[in-house]
This record gives sequence, structure tokens and C-alpha cells, in this order.
Amino acid sequence: MSVGTTTHRMAQLETGDFISDFIGPLGLPTHIEKFGTVVCVAGGFAVATIMPIARSMQEKGNRVISIMGARNKDLIFWEDELRNVSDELIVTTDDGSYGRKGLVTEPLKELLDGDQKIDRVIAIGPSIMMMACSRTTEPYGIKTIVSLNPIMVDGTGMCGCCRVNVGGETKFACVDGPDFDGHQVDWELLFTRQRSYLEQEKTSFEDWKRQHGF
Ligand code: FES
Repeated sequence: MSVGTTTHRMAQLETGDFISDFIGPLGLPTHIEKFGTVVCVAGGFAVATIMPIARSMQEKGNRVISIMGARNKDLIFWEDELRNVSDELIVTTDDGSYGRKGLVTEPLKELLDGDQKIDRVIAIGPSIMMMACSRTTEPYGIKTIVSLNPIMVDGTGMCGCCRVNVGGETKFACVDGPDFDGHQVDWELLFTRQRSYLEQEKTSFEDWKRQHGF
């Protein structure tokens, strides 16, 4: 989905075009082991991120319950791909146009209240959704891993742009993460830092639109 200057520029690329430099993977890999029952929660486009994690968790012998949520039916994708690597899949949409109506935290809470023992939760998506999932699981004491998405510039630990606070310690999401314990994240700091350049992002996008006749 194109939201600003960079994503619009990328969306305009045609077959045969290229991006001059691409480095990765960066950061630390997601910790995979046999925990027991793992709930993988994906919000929006994070289905693409959670799918290989769900697959690896299942390959390790975990029972994987996946929850994927989107604002509406048009934004649902990779449902079958995620279903194929999950023992159970729950789909939600905010407007009820597909699957269950409501937010991903509702089936998550039902699972936590249910008979099955849940051993770990992995929640990936918009920060607000990851915070909501973390707050849902916290009273149950179930470790919840989130994948933080602060503004990043170099991605190699040099600029400090991706600074987050986890458990009272400063971490760089690009090299120390992106996965962190959601119960330890200072969410307010993350939200504030994500908004740091909103004005500049808006100006940049307005300029780009003017130059490209949008
Ligand atoms: S993006 Fe620069 S230190 Fe993480």
C-alpha cells in the first residue's frame, strides 16, 4: 500500500526497474523453539511477516493458532498460505465484511480464557495493535513477542533513529530487535518517536505529488 513518498516511488516501478541497493536480512532472527501452543497474531500486512514464523513454529512441533485481522475484506491476503502453516486460523475484519467482526484481541482473549494452555504469543502489525495484544496477554503472564517498527535510517545500529525502550533499557530495534517482549516495551515513547517527522513526511509527499502531477 502506498502511503508516502517512498512507497509511492516504489509502487511506480515497472518490471525491469530496480532499486540500487538492498541489504538484509538485518537484526536478530525470531526465536523459534518448541514452546507448546503458540498463538500468532497478524494485523494487516503483517500476515507476510507472521507466515514464515508460524511455519517455523509448526515445523518445530508447536501447535500453532493464527489470528489474522484487517480493516476489511479487500485487505485480506495470504489467508490460505497462513492456514496451511497453522493448526487453526481465525480471521477478523474491523467492519465484519469477512470472517469475524471485530479486532484481533477479541479471539485472542477468548483463547486465553479457554481450555487450551497457551505458551507464547507473537503479535505483529501496527504498533497500536501490538500494544493491545500485549495488554491483553499481560494479566495472563503469557510471554508476548512483538516486532517493533520505529523509524529506521541505516538499519545497522549507527544512527540511533530506531531507539526504543524495553524494560527500562535503550535498545536499537534494527540490531537488538526487531523482536522484543511486548510487556516490557515503552509504547508511549515508540508512538511519540514514530510521529517525529510527520510534518517533514507530509511536505515531502506534497512536493513529490506536485512534481509527478498527482
Ligand atoms: S536504524 Fe539507525 S540505529 Fe537503527
